[in-house]
Amino acid sequence: MSDDHDHHDGHDDHELRVSKIRSGTVIDHVRGGQALNVLAILGIDGSDGEEVSVGMNVPSDRFARKDIVKVEGRELSQDEVDVLSLIAPDATINIVRDYDVIEKHRVERPDLVEEVLSCPNTGCITTGDEPVSSRFEVLDDGVRCGYCETIVRDGIPSLIDT
Ligand code: CTP
Ligand code: ZN
Repeated sequence: MSDDHDHHDGHDDHELRVSKIRSGTVIDHVRGGQALNVLAILGIDGSDGEEVSVGMNVPSDRFARKDIVKVEGRELSQDEVDVLSLIAPDATINIVRDYDVIEKHRVERPDLVEEVLSCPNTGCITTGDEPVSSRFEVLDDGVRCGYCETIVRDGIPSLIDT
């Protein structure tokens, strides 16, 4: 039987909280509470009519609670996956076509993210007029600017270049 496997015993018939999608991407095993940041990273605010389902703090086998984001008709770029990995290090990216999961992979945290975040330090060389592209080292608990060494732990989604 095909259903969400992240259910608690005995509730199989009741536990599909978010409908399956036809084609698109399911970002699963997102840390509880991070789903809205996932949407921010993907630039999704609903204004373009995107078909998106979100589950927040739903029961999971792997963690006590997880978030899940399902985006119809969209696949993710490597840059988007790299930034997602910063706030959802255990996420699984599932590519769905014709209702089947045709590809599944865990996000990998890169050592460096280049040209995807802007430094919050207004005095940083990367935020001035000089054509210096941003570069952040990825730490266990945040990111560090490769130029001014500012460390950002919270609020990474708000640094995403648009
Ligand atoms: N999914 C979906 N729409 C589909 C197919 C799958 O929304 N047409 C969702 C499932 O609900 C699940 C995720 O995509 O949340 C991964 O699907 P699947 O690999 O079938 O589930 P699991 O085996 O439970 O995945 P994992 O082992 O990664 O937990
Ligand atoms: Zn900087």
